Amino acid sequence: MEYTSHNSEETKKIASDTALDLVARNAGEPIVVALEGELGAGKTTFVQAFCTALGVAEGVKSPTFLLMKQYELSGVLNYTKLYHLDCYRLNNSTELRQIGIDEILKTSGNIVLIEWADRVAEILPTNNITVHMDHITEHERNIKIDVV
Ligand SMILES: Nc1ncnc2c1ncn2[C@@H]1O[C@H](COP(=O)(O)OP(=O)(O)OP(=O)(O)O)[C@@H](O)[C@H]1O
Ligand SMILES: [Mg+2]
Repeated sequence: MEYTSHNSEETKKIASDTALDLVARNAGEPIVVALEGELGAGKTTFVQAFCTALGVAEGVKSPTFLLMKQYELSGVLNYTKLYHLDCYRLNNSTELRQIGIDEILKTSGNIVLIEWADRVAEILPTNNITVHMDHITEHERNIKIDVV
């Protein structure tokens, strides 16, 4: 699917619809969303709305200095944990392997959203969902979502 978003609110709507659609279609199998796109393209904005749609109450911030942040999901059919990663400062997957990413990516009930996923492409399962975001103008974005 390819969208043109004209402002942050439209991006949030696309993210929220995507979250609900993925959960409805995946029956608890791990969901891995790889977000790509330049600085300020809207990756964190997308993740925040995705989380809100799934009932994550606490504010989702970019975990750039944490690498990974974990949220509990309650009331989401078949899904219990959501992980948000920001790989901006990584050049390879070494640190991710150390924090146990392989297990996280294959555990049922997990949803994993990875900003700058292209930096750690080698860890991604082949059936990940790719969200590619590009600037068109200051407030317009092209959002391409590939669901394998
Ligand atoms: N159509 C749009 N969609 C998303 N964000 C938009 C849009 N128009 C303007 N913005 C603004 O662009 C910024 C996007 O920032 P955001 O942190 O989401 O980007 P990012 O891709 O996560 O950046 P980074 O690479 O630094 O992590 C926000 O300030 C947001 O308000
Ligand atoms: Mg970000």
